[in-house]
Amino acid sequence: MDLIEAIDSRRSIRAFKPSPVSRELVEKILNLVVKAPSAINLQPWEFIVVMGEEKERLSRKLIKSYREKQISCSPGNVKPLADTFSKRGLASVELMTPSLAKLGHEFNQFINEGSCNFYGAPTAVILCLDNAFSKARLVDVGIGVGYFVLVAQSFGLGTCTIGLINAYEDEIKEVLSIPENKDVVIGIALGYPDLDSPANEFKTPRDNLDSFVRWFD
Ligand SMILES: Cc1cc2nc3c(=O)[nH]c(=O)nc-3n(C[C@H](O)[C@H](O)[C@H](O)COP(=O)(O)O)c2cc1C
Repeated sequence: MDLIEAIDSRRSIRAFKPSPVSRELVEKILNLVVKAPSAINLQPWEFIVVMGEEKERLSRKLIKSYREKQISCSPGNVKPLADTFSKRGLASVELMTPSLAKLGHEFNQFINEGSCNFYGAPTAVILCLDNAFSKARLVDVGIGVGYFVLVAQSFGLGTCTIGLINAYEDEIKEVLSIPENKDVVIGIALGYPDLDSPANEFKTPRDNLDSFVRWFD
């Protein structure tokens, strides 16, 4: 699959087949991902690949903590959002709700518990950043995530980027023995997509360029 096809066809996957992803394939993906650019070539990203029983243990811990703390997916804004952004968020909820209803799921429960379970994907990838770095280096990690989802797509795998797990950083650090000086930035669910599931049947739209781009030409 070429790059444009990977970009065009990618969507976040929220139902996976149980088949495991081999360590060799994850290594192949990561070897391409780390070709991403980073400031001064610092390559600040760190990846923790969690599979098998360890992944199940991590999911169990996160779901338990979610049920206790009830911290949900949210945009994490520090001031009220402009209407444009709120409307886009609401439109996504409206798009997904009927598909999740087909599965008998209520939106919030599906997204929050699903995120904590990496949507049943056989592999969870946790991205960390040494806390000696400035927050500017989160950009580099974000570029790594962008590469990851596209490389995985080009190998026929599905991904869902999981920001919610950031709210459960302490639990993740405990389960995966992550040292104090590393911050958990984000997670990625990785596996073979179950394309028959209603959870994967919708494709989120994008606004046209006029909403994002100003030209001086
Ligand atoms: C930084 C980031 C955090 C995200 N966190 C979550 C999450 O916690 N749970 C989830 O289900 N999807 C999460 N997503 C996926 C977005 O909801 C998804 O990318 C968006 O709705 C656009 O849909 P698409 O990826 O199918 O194009 C996240 C995506 C990004 C980039």
